[in-house]
Amino acid sequence: MLTSEIRRRWLAFFEQRGHTVVPSASLVSPDPSTLFTIAGMVPFIPYMLGRETPPWPRATSVQKCVRTPDIDEVGKTTRHGTFFQMNGNFSFGDYFKEGAIEYAWELVTGSQDDGCYGFDPDKVWVTVYEEDDEAAALWRKVAGIPEHRIQRRDKKDNYWHTGQPGPAGPCSEIYIDRGAAYGPEGGPIVDEDRFLEIWNLVFMQYAIDDVKAKDQFRITGDLKSKNIDTGMGLERTAYLLQGVDNLYEIDEVFPVIKAAEEISGKRYGADHDDDVRFRVVADHVRSTLMLIGDGITPSNEGRGYVLRRLLRRSVRAMRLLGVDEPSLPHLLPVSRDAMGQSYPELVSGFDRISRAAYAEEEAFRRTLVAGTTILDTAVKAAKKAGDTMLGGEQAFALHDTYGFPIDLTLEMAAEQGLKVDEQGFRDLMREQRERARADAKSKKGGHADLTVFRELREAGATPFTGYTELTTATTVRALLRDGGLIATAAAGETVDVVLELTPFYAESGGQESDSGVITGDGLRLDVLDVQRPVKGLIVHTVRVVEGEVRHGQEVLAQVDPEWRLGARQAHSGTHVVHAALREVLGPNALQSGSYNKPGYLRLDFSWNQALSAAARSEIEDVANRAIREDLGVQWQYMSLPEAKEWGAIALFGETYDEQVRVVEIGGPWSRELCGGTHVDHSSQIGLVTLTGESSVGSGSRRVEALVGLEAFHHLAKERALVATLSDTLKTRPEDLPERVAGLAARLREAEKELAAIRTERLLAGAGALAESAQQVGGVRLVTAAVGDVSSADDLRTLALEVRGRMGESAAVVAAGGVAGGRPVVVVATNAAARDAGLAAGALAKAAAAVLGGGGGGKPDVAQGGGTDASRLPAAMDALRAQVQGT
Ligand code: ALA
Repeated sequence: MLTSEIRRRWLAFFEQRGHTVVPSASLVSPDPSTLFTIAGMVPFIPYMLGRETPPWPRATSVQKCVRTPDIDEVGKTTRHGTFFQMNGNFSFGDYFKEGAIEYAWELVTGSQDDGCYGFDPDKVWVTVYEEDDEAAALWRKVAGIPEHRIQRRDKKDNYWHTGQPGPAGPCSEIYIDRGAAYGPEGGPIVDEDRFLEIWNLVFMQYAIDDVKAKDQFRITGDLKSKNIDTGMGLERTAYLLQGVDNLYEIDEVFPVIKAAEEISGKRYGADHDDDVRFRVVADHVRSTLMLIGDGITPSNEGRGYVLRRLLRRSVRAMRLLGVDEPSLPHLLPVSRDAMGQSYPELVSGFDRISRAAYAEEEAFRRTLVAGTTILDTAVKAAKKAGDTMLGGEQAFALHDTYGFPIDLTLEMAAEQGLKVDEQGFRDLMREQRERARADAKSKKGGHADLTVFRELREAGATPFTGYTELTTATTVRALLRDGGLIATAAAGETVDVVLELTPFYAESGGQESDSGVITGDGLRLDVLDVQRPVKGLIVHTVRVVEGEVRHGQEVLAQVDPEWRLGARQAHSGTHVVHAALREVLGPNALQSGSYNKPGYLRLDFSWNQALSAAARSEIEDVANRAIREDLGVQWQYMSLPEAKEWGAIALFGETYDEQVRVVEIGGPWSRELCGGTHVDHSSQIGLVTLTGESSVGSGSRRVEALVGLEAFHHLAKERALVATLSDTLKTRPEDLPERVAGLAARLREAEKELAAIRTERLLAGAGALAESAQQVGGVRLVTAAVGDVSSADDLRTLALEVRGRMGESAAVVAAGGVAGGRPVVVVATNAAARDAGLAAGALAKAAAAVLGGGGGGKPDVAQGGGTDASRLPAAMDALRAQVQGT
């Protein structure tokens, strides 16, 4: 029976029995205390706790779930999967134990012709909570299960809660006996592989808190009503009904194993270790698909980290199966095809899903290549030193330099029989975080002592007039130098000024502070910076250019109108680019930081791959269309919940006041919480042109853009550049790419020819070199210093050529040269020399040590290199000495 059929029967069975079919909720848990939806009941917790009124007395669902505590068990047992689907029926104060047991018995053992699953009633075993006589009696009464197949277990096994404060209750589990081939007699209390649990009926009737373990929690009282929560493992049921051995072999999972067999050339079922890898791949690829499908993207925290770990484990398992090529482009579509029938959104969203997954695989492959060599070296060194543990510094270096997550280091070290000093690693991580924080603080040290600012703030906030005017008549409320109050400041001094009112925008929300002047009777202050050292208080850092400024003086605060226009264009431009990003890339491309000043903006957003040229130009296009459409820009204050309700985008990690300002461009097209200054109509932005796109750490990209006149100047400069190029290359602008590509190809050709000529010339000297051999100890030694070569291969070719001309008696050839600025020595020995104990590897190593590097190879040919080319003669001397001494 196909998995989709099992699911269909489930829903139909309960729907016919008065249950409302509720679609699966997202894998992203609605409950903030858990990362993922771990059971079918999670979306219904508020109903069970009586916090919300259930819209129906009975419900049924097939819920997508992810559980990762047993991630290391995946593939090793028959029944652990990270992603799985849970069939559930729920009663909210409607039927209870008897009803639940009746339904379960009917569906499990009823005939397949009647839409049930048709398990043999004699193979069914059940467990009940040790004190639950009622459930045991019901199993006898309803199902006629004999006493010996009703086993009692304690809280560890037969009590269920999510692991968090919430609803809980005793449970009763249904097992199917798979037969003697799968393990010993004795029921589930003896063997849970042979007796496979398929369905758990939970009698939810208590509220608990203080949850420490499965069997350690505090019951705080009864729930408002007695509820039923059940969970049948869809995959487990499928592998029983499909007659396969484990959940990795069912119809929704096995195709991935098949595909992995194809690309690895290995066979599933041939080798135990490989089989585990195949299953890990099948499970994790599916989980990756489902998680990204529900909007999660790989990152270093929370859900994103779990996803990253799953994806990386699958990539590594493929590598261990011998596949060096990217594997997800082969496997993910297969998983999509297997799951798409039940989850059509996987098909429609596959473009987005696959982009995120493939980019992560690419990034990880780069990490692996760099880090694996380092790790292997560290492992070898540790083993040589007789250590059983890798140092915390090494794990930290791998993390810091190569982005190796600690889990990966742990796993890879374990594969080689080593432990890792995890505590040492964590200590180093903490120190690094503390250093970074201290560093950031020291950079923001401008207003180190905030005492006076706090006192000023307590006396009153600074009203900001700059949303409606650029010039404000006001008074000097306070003057400060180095954080202390002063009465006056003379020309030439730089001081801080607090005004009664100000039109100057203080740097915040990514918008640079306003520029302008403050003037008064014979007074002129240039405003250098405007900040809010404490919330609500605006402080201007000014240079006194003319006159003397006094506490209490009446002044005119004037923002430079040109500057402000630029600032408004840039800030509105930032919102437009953000909205365009989200329109093109999807709602996951959420801004995580921004900065804008007149003419320029940059915006960081969560996304984990470089934007293609096509995506960039589409974003630019959407942004400029929004400008052309002359969308209205409005803002208003509202409460934070109202703003969220309205779909306004708040930024990660920002704290907002009760009352927030929401800026809209084109109505719902762009709605953001923002205190910045904006244009009145989008057309005032003028023009947006993207100038750059780069990575700013894992999972985060940055776009940069110019707006308004700056954008125009930038484009004009590029036009001039193209004109110059086409002039120089004597070709039309549209033919430039082809022309440049042609030139590059010819250059490569020429370089190749040059290299061939060099090699030829080098080899032409081989005869003379062979003749120049000197007798050193018992062998003839040739040392050839040939200067610059195209690559180390030339030296190798030369050394072999010379050796070939030296006859049978013992001979060693060492060819030294400089390839790409680095010194290289290639050593070749003939058989007689090797018999005399001269190994090329050891000789190359001796020479490389002098060059400041390492080397090695086989006894007949070996290569060494280093960093200091000036020491090549000394390296040859060392080699000669070694030959002499052997
Ligand atoms: N909530 C119960 C479980 O997950 C049914 O096992």
